[in-house]
Amino acid sequence: MFDLERIQNETFVEQFVYRPEIGSTNDLAMQLGMQDETLLPALVLTACQTAGRGRGANRWWAGPGALTCSLILASPAVRLAPERRAQVSLVAALAVCETVSDLLPTTAVGLKWPNDVQLSGRKVSGILVEVPSHHSEMFILGIGLNVNNTFEQAPRDVRSLATSLTESTGLVYDLTDVLIRLLHRTEAELTQLEADDDNLPLRWQALCVLRGKTVQLTAGSQTHTGLCDGIDRDGALLLQTESGSRRFFSGVISAVE
Ligand code: BTN
Repeated sequence: MFDLERIQNETFVEQFVYRPEIGSTNDLAMQLGMQDETLLPALVLTACQTAGRGRGANRWWAGPGALTCSLILASPAVRLAPERRAQVSLVAALAVCETVSDLLPTTAVGLKWPNDVQLSGRKVSGILVEVPSHHSEMFILGIGLNVNNTFEQAPRDVRSLATSLTESTGLVYDLTDVLIRLLHRTEAELTQLEADDDNLPLRWQALCVLRGKTVQLTAGSQTHTGLCDGIDRDGALLLQTESGSRRFFSGVISAVE
């Protein structure tokens, strides 16, 4: 299914761990991230993830043919203060958007703040950024991208919202090729983030699917409703609410009109 040698030789990955089946690549990446001998950047890749995790209590469902992996990265310039975590998630989403656009140049790709990528308005990818405890200079970038998987066997809520590259085009993609493209894009986006490149905020703003829509955002026990002005340069979602303009660094989008 994967050409492991190509992935190792053609990408910035220094250590590569492949498991034919695993609960969650993020879980193993978190363990490896805490071991001194792990060479970074490291990649955990699987052909079959049985207990994928999403943000909060969400699960990530992925049938055969999906791409599920976690990068373990260290970057002194991107010390993960909470407000920078939003940016890491966004640059990963940009990398996914670019990868998908390269492969499907005529299909609409968009970014749903903070960590989803949409293809023709349906979720094609989810991103989960985590930090191993006591290692604030390190982060785990978990990416799930629906490539050759279909959703007949998926839970109903997933079936109604998700799509994959193959569902969109009817083509079957070389998973190694898609992964290598994604890793190249991710490396380039992270380099831009470290350099504080002014183009990044322009690009995530241009891809923001919530801009101009009325959005309900739940943060902790509070729900805020407002017209979305997009995403600012720090990665915060901007809402014009009844109590004025607000910035949110985290939250769950619960409704969009
Ligand atoms: C979300 O949509 O809330 C984020 C989903 C993230 C899923 C990926 S798949 C690879 C990595 N391993 C996990 O357990 N989760 C992430």
